[in-house]
Amino acid sequence: MNTIKEDIKINSTEVKIHNLSKRFDDFYAVKGVSLHIEKGDFFTFLGPSGCGKTTLLRMVAGFTMPNEGDIYFDDQRMNNIPPWERNVGMVFQSYALWPHMTVYKNIAFGLKERKIPKSEIRERVKNALEMVNLQGMENRRPSQLSGGQQQRVALARTLVIQPRLLLLDEPLSNLDAKLRIQMRNELLRLQREMGITSIYVTHDQEEALAISTHIAVMSKGEVIQQGTPREIYESPNNQVVADFVGTSNFLECNVKAVSGDYVYLNCPDVENSRILWKTSLQQPPAEGSQLTLNIRPESMRISNKGDRYDENILRGKIITSVYLGSLIQYQVETSSEKNIRVNVPNPRRIEVLEADQDIILTFSPDEAILLHA
Ligand SMILES: Nc1ncnc2c1ncn2[C@@H]1O[C@H](COP(=O)(O)OP(=O)(O)OP(=O)(O)O)[C@@H](O)[C@H]1O
Ligand SMILES: [Mg+2]
Repeated sequence: MNTIKEDIKINSTEVKIHNLSKRFDDFYAVKGVSLHIEKGDFFTFLGPSGCGKTTLLRMVAGFTMPNEGDIYFDDQRMNNIPPWERNVGMVFQSYALWPHMTVYKNIAFGLKERKIPKSEIRERVKNALEMVNLQGMENRRPSQLSGGQQQRVALARTLVIQPRLLLLDEPLSNLDAKLRIQMRNELLRLQREMGITSIYVTHDQEEALAISTHIAVMSKGEVIQQGTPREIYESPNNQVVADFVGTSNFLECNVKAVSGDYVYLNCPDVENSRILWKTSLQQPPAEGSQLTLNIRPESMRISNKGDRYDENILRGKIITSVYLGSLIQYQVETSSEKNIRVNVPNPRRIEVLEADQDIILTFSPDEAILLHA
């Protein structure tokens, strides 16, 4: 007999979503979403509360019927296939374990319903318990387990039926911060090891970056950008994404001149601007056009020494200075009263600058992102 892991890897599906929409009366909860999720992907729907993540996931599971569009698992159209015939495993935020059943019975439940022989059930439950590191806990009840352990039972119960697709709707949000990171790493290891196609829903951008192979950023029912975590963070293609994933400083600017790979801007706050346009734009921008200059807090360098910089200079005053151990976080107000966030990683014995000091900020031409206004 194969292990559960081997069987899951073989049966895992790819998912294609074409122009999918869901309306409640005349409100679009999901609107025109198209995605291609490859076999073995860890694909995340990321976006703020109410943007349509759960609705989209429920359509993949079959609990919610779309008004428009199609869903395919491999080459099979799933629109009219009921949830129990789709062979997907779903893990919810509330683990939904049976409180009166032992861990063993909770995990075995789905197999019993499928009329699997007893000896095979025993083998598969044992296998699933090992996968989530819960050996020896089979006789406990959910109330005798920690939150993290309950979450593992929920995962084991889902994996034991060998789904071709794993759906996870904010599965870690009931855990405290430390445990959440621990479980997230475990989930990551398990998913990569098993190679099971997974769709994960979260509004936590750090979690999404940490765990996903691909991310679809959603806003108001639509997917506004999709890509790898790195593409999403380093090359956001609009201001909503840049603002939601990580933090950013935005400056409204005007294109003064373009020369080769560089663009020179008129911004209210930046002296001697020179920006590499190629890292964020397909084509050089037109002279006179409006652009939003986007600089991550960690790309800003700060100094109170009166250093002479040649380009990309902002002058200002420190408003707040926060020591966070691994990081020093500043809020700076520029001469035109714009607030700029600056993060300085904290190697040993770095000088912490105090509030009220006059400082100079700078950033390098290849670290800024340009967005069409
Ligand atoms: N059954 C329903 N009837 C009417 N409106 C609904 C229904 N289900 C969801 N909605 C609406 O659709 C929108 C999307 O809801 P959804 O639950 O998909 O959001 P979400 O991104 O999962 O949010 P959260 O992060 O808060 O879970 C919301 O505005 C919600 O109020
Ligand atoms: Mg939701």
